[in-house]
Amino acid sequence: MKNLLITGGAGFIGSNYIIDMLKKHTNYSIVNLDILTYAGNLSNLSEIEKDSRYTFIKGSINNLELVSYILHDYKIDAIVNFAAESHVDRSILGPDIFVETNVKGTSTLLEAAREYGIEKFLQVSTDEVYGSLGDDGKFTENTHISPNSPYSASKAGADMLVRSYYKTFKFPALITRCSNNYGPYQFPEKLIPLMIKNAREDKPLPVYGTGKNIRDWIHVLDHCTAIDLVLHNGEIGGIYNIGGENEWRNIDIVKEILKLLDKPESLIKFVTDRPGHDFRYAIDPSKIKKELGWKPKYNFSDGLKETIKWYKASQKWVGDCTSGAYKNYYDKMYHGR
Ligand code: NAD
Ligand code: DAU
Repeated sequence: MKNLLITGGAGFIGSNYIIDMLKKHTNYSIVNLDILTYAGNLSNLSEIEKDSRYTFIKGSINNLELVSYILHDYKIDAIVNFAAESHVDRSILGPDIFVETNVKGTSTLLEAAREYGIEKFLQVSTDEVYGSLGDDGKFTENTHISPNSPYSASKAGADMLVRSYYKTFKFPALITRCSNNYGPYQFPEKLIPLMIKNAREDKPLPVYGTGKNIRDWIHVLDHCTAIDLVLHNGEIGGIYNIGGENEWRNIDIVKEILKLLDKPESLIKFVTDRPGHDFRYAIDPSKIKKELGWKPKYNFSDGLKETIKWYKASQKWVGDCTSGAYKNYYDKMYHGR
């Protein structure tokens, strides 16, 4: 296995994954298929964009003809599907694109890959498909699927399609379900980068509801390592939970960020809660630890400090996200090809 098709590789996790994979597997070639929605930022990949092992193709996973062409022409051995609409708040404002990309797009990829005879297909899913927990318990791979937002419902729909291809066609599928990621290149609409950005600009930090909702945080590179392991050593048809066993109430994370930036808590602003806001996520990662020997490298205290340092040093990246200038990167670097 050496030719990979990565979809959604210009986003937060996909770009970290491509850079990490090219470092770890020097004999691999990677094709990155990304339509470049607002979340796709090609400048994330500037350090490897001239690497002869890397090819970027601007296009959609919904385009069956294009996907089939890539699979054949680049002799793709495996697909890792990151492409998605990923933000819960946006799914509440407009669910349609979530169904179009996350469900229909995955279905198109599966069909192209089945017809072509792919060696492996890894669907990057999320712990949100399991729904919400109360004060106790953790999500295992056997927890019922019970999504609560249009985002998580669309991801659950994709998971069901992937499962059906494995069951019906003996399709070589794998599914990973990870908890909340943080780290470099995360678009400043998600909790941690938004709070860092607002705190640095002395703007209010909007905390939904009481701030007592709990998320289980993992560094993006620990997620990438886990996906790499599952892709190479996971059991076909298997589902693997990935999580940092690192639960935080939102309000405590926000206070920690303010402390690390030496900013006052008076910047916190409690705002109207997210409709259908899941109370708590917590992943039980025993299976991937036991079966594949995965363990996270980052502890949260260092990872958060490092992430804040990265955002401080990447003022231009953040500014370009806010101004929209990042959208010109493709035309500038790829001459509108
Ligand atoms: P992101 O929003 O940062 O990136 C998504 C990428 O997909 C963007 O580059 C976008 O341009 C691309 N894309 C969207 N529609 C496309 C289409 N039709 N064709 C091709 N490309 C398209 O998302 P992320 O946070 O990097 O998440 C990546 C994947 O990981 C998603 O599937 C998400 O559900 C999953 N996930 C995310 C987290 C998290 O904490 N961020 C946790 C678990 C799982
Ligand atoms: O659990 C994995 C999921 O994590 C991924 O599947 C999603 O793609 C990813 O976006 C993330 O979903 P969340 O909804 O948990 O992430 P978000 O950063 O949007 O919010 C984290 C928590 O912080 C959540 O409880 C809502 C709250 N929040 C968020 C924002 C953006 C706030 O209180 N204020 C905010 O401004």
